[in-house]
Amino acid sequence: SKVTVKAPSSTANLGPGFDVFGLALDAFYDTVTLTKIKNGIKIITDDNIPTNPEKNTAGLVVKNMMKKFKIKGGIEIKIKKGIPAGYGMGSSAASAAATAVAFDKLFGLKLDGNSLVEFAGSGEKASAGTVHYDNVAASVLGGFVIVRTNPLDVIRIDPPSNLRMCVAVPTINVPKKKTKVSRGVIPKKIKLSDSILNLSNAAAIVVGFMKKDSEIIGNSIKDVIVEPARQHMIPGFIKVKENAIKAGALGVTISGAGPSVIAFSKSSADLKKISLSMTKGFTSANTKCQTVICKP
Ligand code: HSE
Repeated sequence: SKVTVKAPSSTANLGPGFDVFGLALDAFYDTVTLTKIKNGIKIITDDNIPTNPEKNTAGLVVKNMMKKFKIKGGIEIKIKKGIPAGYGMGSSAASAAATAVAFDKLFGLKLDGNSLVEFAGSGEKASAGTVHYDNVAASVLGGFVIVRTNPLDVIRIDPPSNLRMCVAVPTINVPKKKTKVSRGVIPKKIKLSDSILNLSNAAAIVVGFMKKDSEIIGNSIKDVIVEPARQHMIPGFIKVKENAIKAGALGVTISGAGPSVIAFSKSSADLKKISLSMTKGFTSANTKCQTVICKP
C-alpha cells in the first residue's frame, strides 16, 4: 500500500511552441511516494513548497483523483524535490506527474496516457493559476510531446539520440507566482507575420523530431512572440544567448516560463564550451547560475 514514482524535469515551449511543446530532460528529478493512510491528505516534503493540499500540485492531483474514482480513506504524499521550483524546469509539473502515475499504480487504475496527463495537469492549477499541459505531458510520457486540447490529446515522439541540451539556471529570486507573472507580460494580440514565423519554426521542430535530425530542431528554436516579451525578466539573457550561439549552440531560448535558459546542441563536444559561455553571460549581468548538461 505504498508506491514511489520518480518524474523528470522538462522544458516547455522550445521557442515557438508556446503551451504546445514539451521535452522531458534528465537534468533533475522529483520523487513522490504515496501511502494509504486512515483519512485525509497529508503532505510531507523536504522543500519550501506549500503543504496545504489545495495549494500543492501533488495535493490537488490526489484530491481530484480520489474524488473521481470515489476512493475512501486517506493518502500521505511524500515529496522529494530534486527540481528547483520556479525556474522553468517543470518542477511543479513533475511532482504532479509523479503523483498521478503513483496514484494510478497504487489503486491499479490502468489509466491511459491522456488521462494521466489530464489529472497531472489538474494539479498544475495550484501553481500556474491556469491549466497548461506542456510540462506535465513531457514529465508523464517522457520524450518530446505535442499537446492538443479540446479534447486533450497528446502526441509523443522519441527524440534523436544525439540531441543534447545545456540548461543554465540563474540563482535569482523568482516571484511567488512566477508562472502567472511571466504569463502576464505576453501580448494578447499578435501580428499575423509573427504568427507565421513561429508556426513555420514550430512545424520544422516537429519535422526535426520525426526525422531524428537535431540540426533542424536546434536551428528552429526561434520565437518572435513570447521570448521578446519575457526576456527582460532574465538578467543578461541577450548576452547568454549570444554567447551560447557563438560557442556552437544551434538554438537558445527561455526554458518554459523562465528564468532558466536552454541551449540546444547535437554535439557533446560543444557542450562544455556552451555551458561556460552561458555562465559568462550571466556573470556579465552580475548573476550566478547553475549549468546542467542534459539529454531528453
Ligand atoms: N508554456 C508555459 C509558459 C510553461 O511558458 O508559461 C510554464 O510552465
